[in-house]
Amino acid sequence: MRLVICDTVDYVAEWSAKYVMKRIKDFEPNKDKYFVIGLPTGGTPLGMYKKLIEFYQAGKISFKYVKTFNMDEYVDLSRDHHESYHYYMYNNFFKYIDIDPQNVHILDGNAKDLTKECENFERKIEEAGGIELFIGGIGPDGHIAFNEPGSSLASRTRVKTLAQDTLEANARFFGNDINKVPKQALTVGVGTVMDANEVMILITGSHKAFALYKAIEEGVNHMWTVSAFQQHPRTIIICDEDATLELRVKTVKYFKSLWDIHCKLIEDISQLKI
Ligand code: GLP
Repeated sequence: MRLVICDTVDYVAEWSAKYVMKRIKDFEPNKDKYFVIGLPTGGTPLGMYKKLIEFYQAGKISFKYVKTFNMDEYVDLSRDHHESYHYYMYNNFFKYIDIDPQNVHILDGNAKDLTKECENFERKIEEAGGIELFIGGIGPDGHIAFNEPGSSLASRTRVKTLAQDTLEANARFFGNDINKVPKQALTVGVGTVMDANEVMILITGSHKAFALYKAIEEGVNHMWTVSAFQQHPRTIIICDEDATLELRVKTVKYFKSLWDIHCKLIEDISQLKI
């Protein structure tokens, strides 16, 4: 596992966007070979999306041959509700880039048959040839997508009832009224993300420091579903300083000592403020 510790949240955005850009470019996607990427929502990846839009507008990258699969979506929230993940993705990313809407896949939380919707999503990922890079964020309780504490680490895309912690964390998006937060969501499973060739997880803020500690310094445990990625051969976690507050000094020092090696993973390091 790699842990890239950036000084600031802004730098996490820049570093992760550069990494995504480099991965897509190195893959050399074309009409017969799409780059398939898994995408998260939430506050954490917003800066990365902004940077990717900037890179697109500067002509540095195209999303023409990219297929996307989003991690999750609320159940029973209309697509045009400002907190739906459809709304989020369109307004924070897709409307600014050259992606073909046909290549965008977001679970439909209003589907008549939710189980079928989840099965179809898994099938579509398979038909696309699997996910090359799955990007995720986590909740303070260490959940990835909506795989709440206690979720099976072999889980697939399914309907999930949200934990109280998640409802409380997300109430801020619904006028601080917990009763307005949808109680269920459709989510990819931990197993679905594990199947990707590479997993990149963004973790920022001191409120997620304990989850980062559980993710990397303790054992794999379904109560902290993000810890499952210790067993993935290619996991890269990108975090800020605040998120490292619960880690051992020796862990932080070790990963910081790899900074130069990590920087080789992204293009054009001369432009970075190190
Ligand atoms: C929700 C989403 C997760 C996301 C998490 C963190 O629970 N289902 O996919 O990672 O929020 O969001 P934020 O980045 O706003 O802290």
